[in-house]
Amino acid sequence: MIQPNTVITGDSLTVLRSMDDESVDMVITDPPYGIDYQSGRKEKERRLAKIKNDKAPFIWWIYDAARVVKRGGGVLCFARWDVQQTFMDALRLAGLTVKSVIVWDKKAHGMGDLKGSFAPRYEVIIFAAKGRFELPGKRPDDLIACAKVGNQSLTHPNEKPVELLEQLIETTTTPDALILDPFAGSGSTLVAAAKTGRQYIGIEIDEHYSQLAATRAAEHQKGATA
Ligand SMILES: C[S@@+](CC[C@H](N)C(=O)[O-])C[C@H]1O[C@@H](n2cnc3c(N)ncnc32)[C@H](O)[C@@H]1O
Repeated sequence: MIQPNTVITGDSLTVLRSMDDESVDMVITDPPYGIDYQSGRKEKERRLAKIKNDKAPFIWWIYDAARVVKRGGGVLCFARWDVQQTFMDALRLAGLTVKSVIVWDKKAHGMGDLKGSFAPRYEVIIFAAKGRFELPGKRPDDLIACAKVGNQSLTHPNEKPVELLEQLIETTTTPDALILDPFAGSGSTLVAAAKTGRQYIGIEIDEHYSQLAATRAAEHQKGATA
């Protein structure tokens, strides 16, 4: 059994298999989904380097995530417009019900095809429930505006804002919840869980990011000294 408030360095496909059925309240995660892009400038900086398993939408964890989440809980999974259908299909095949697709307005656009496409300014978060899910409080909108992490502050190429994750956690879980992020990266989900008084389990394959996630999350755990 994995103790709460732990970050495991390892492959989530293996670690998830060792976890008990119905042992976490919510899975909140940002899996690799096929960006695999890196500019020359980024290549030189580790904090902006390529991440693992990012050639295509990485869906192979979903069956076990659906197994380890409690009935009445669910999965919140980050994705992008062109891969969201793949993730939704995999979530449904794992027995979950896709209830919402939340649009995260990043308040500033990214790059993409500068001359040939609209400037990409949003990402999506798919919300899928296991059994009957009930929101613990006020019903949130399916559009959240939250500034992305600025390039200068990034500690991971795909780092998500902690404030966005705090909103997702507070609107979908109660304070006694245990939250699992099987692709923890720099640990933003775990930090948000700790800041909102929830417990967390993180899994991250890259040792550097795993340690970063553990350190960041521990700093925000209730009772941690500054
Ligand atoms: C999109 S990033 C997550 C970023 C994170 N949300 C943050 O705010 O920093 C996905 C992470 O999954 C990790 N990863 C890729 N394949 C993995 C696997 N099989 N098991 C565990 N982690 C994996 C990568 O190293 C990367 O850090």
